[in-house]
Amino acid sequence: MSPKSLNDLKRKDLLQTKGYINEEWVDAASGKTFDVYDPATLDKIATLPEMGAEEANQAVAAADTAFKSYKQTTARQRARWLRKWSDLCLSHADDLALILTLENGKTLTEAKGEVIYAASFLEWFAGEAERVHGEVVPPANPSQRILTFKQPVGVAACLSPWNFPIAMITRKVGAALAAGCTTVWKPAGETPLSALAQVTLAREAGFPKGTINVITTLDLVAEVGEALCRNKLVRKLSFTGSTRVGKLLASQCSGTVKKLSLELGGNSPFIVFDDAKLETAVEACIMAKFRNSGQTCVTANRVFVQKGIYDKFAEALTTRIKSLKVGPGTEDGVFVGPLTHERAVEKALNHISDAKKHGGQVILGGAPLPDHKGYFLQPTVIKNMNQDMITTREETFAPVVGLYEFETEEDVIEMANDCDVGLGSFIITENIPRAWRVTEALEVGMVGVNLGLLSACESPFGGVKQSGYGREGGRQGIEEYLSVKSMLINVAN
Ligand code: SIN
Repeated sequence: MSPKSLNDLKRKDLLQTKGYINEEWVDAASGKTFDVYDPATLDKIATLPEMGAEEANQAVAAADTAFKSYKQTTARQRARWLRKWSDLCLSHADDLALILTLENGKTLTEAKGEVIYAASFLEWFAGEAERVHGEVVPPANPSQRILTFKQPVGVAACLSPWNFPIAMITRKVGAALAAGCTTVWKPAGETPLSALAQVTLAREAGFPKGTINVITTLDLVAEVGEALCRNKLVRKLSFTGSTRVGKLLASQCSGTVKKLSLELGGNSPFIVFDDAKLETAVEACIMAKFRNSGQTCVTANRVFVQKGIYDKFAEALTTRIKSLKVGPGTEDGVFVGPLTHERAVEKALNHISDAKKHGGQVILGGAPLPDHKGYFLQPTVIKNMNQDMITTREETFAPVVGLYEFETEEDVIEMANDCDVGLGSFIITENIPRAWRVTEALEVGMVGVNLGLLSACESPFGGVKQSGYGREGGRQGIEEYLSVKSMLINVAN
């Protein structure tokens, strides 16, 4: 039988309920706390310290002190620590998945997948640590020699979201620690337990005192964010979350001119051409839309289907969605878990009623799941979507599929690019020249062709336009935590 509660953890010390500063588990100076709830049952599962600017600045000071010695460690040593941490994640995958499911809602199968994904970043950056190198540059002046080398920027603040509470930590922190930076983590207030479990494992892997610090906060999140942005000892800030908050952090960071990476909201087009294989299109759409109950930054928010295949695709997709079991993530066979927030359900219902008002036809779902206490929404399919609907401009972040019909390649490119953000996208076609043309024309950071998942540690993740800047993962991920120094040498006699 699947585990159901935190009492079922095999390793009890993976459940930590305090912040972590300079190798100590700590409470908030104010004594204030906040609660974490299971979105499937609405049961309280933990109480944590509500930390504020004071603790954030203490964490930064600890990380800054640690940086002085950590930056001198060899890349080989840092790679060993990261590899060990990755191995520990994998050997405790069941426990980590259980914590993740209980605080976020995603199914245990998906949570286990996220743990493996999270560990892959640690392993990837263990390799990248030793591949950081500079260049010898041909000089224009014959009496000079020029070379460059790369150095860690310093203390990195890593602000991670609630939708991938483990993988977004390791994608940021794995790169930072590999580069030689020390870190302050600010996990989302809804899902701090996964990050704290990671601390236990990273500590066991051997990371030195002060290299990892964690601030737990829910109501004081704006205060903590601002403190990290304004603290001049923080040299790098990495944030995954909404475009609105990303803009605010960018403005707060301008005073200390920090290096920034922002992975912000998306509005991914999922484009099915007439020549697509129907089964490929349906399965890719299920993956792109229903992973984490539609709560991914690259979720298929606008599903554009060419006229010739529109009705066939709508029918096949709806039939497939009807076979998906909805329920608590700890229940066997469940594919779609609850949403993480009450307000996520409200937002989705608002998008559905707006679509109906503008001519949308709900052919499946459209309401909360009956007889459940948690934040469940029925998987929903809406036909006849058009450009006047809120969903066209804003992420719904829920298991709601909106089907738009299009006629030509040119039309769909125009519709897909008609928005302020550009993170993920998907193209389903058997026509390879078309896949190339459309890939080049889409204003996005990532394109998936004939698949519904863009996540791979070796592939750079990030967007264009108001989806932010910087890349996580891939060869580029570690560069975000490094600065280039050039050295010019006079070799004249
Ligand atoms: C995200 O939703 O921000 C991350 C998704 C992923 O890495 O697959």
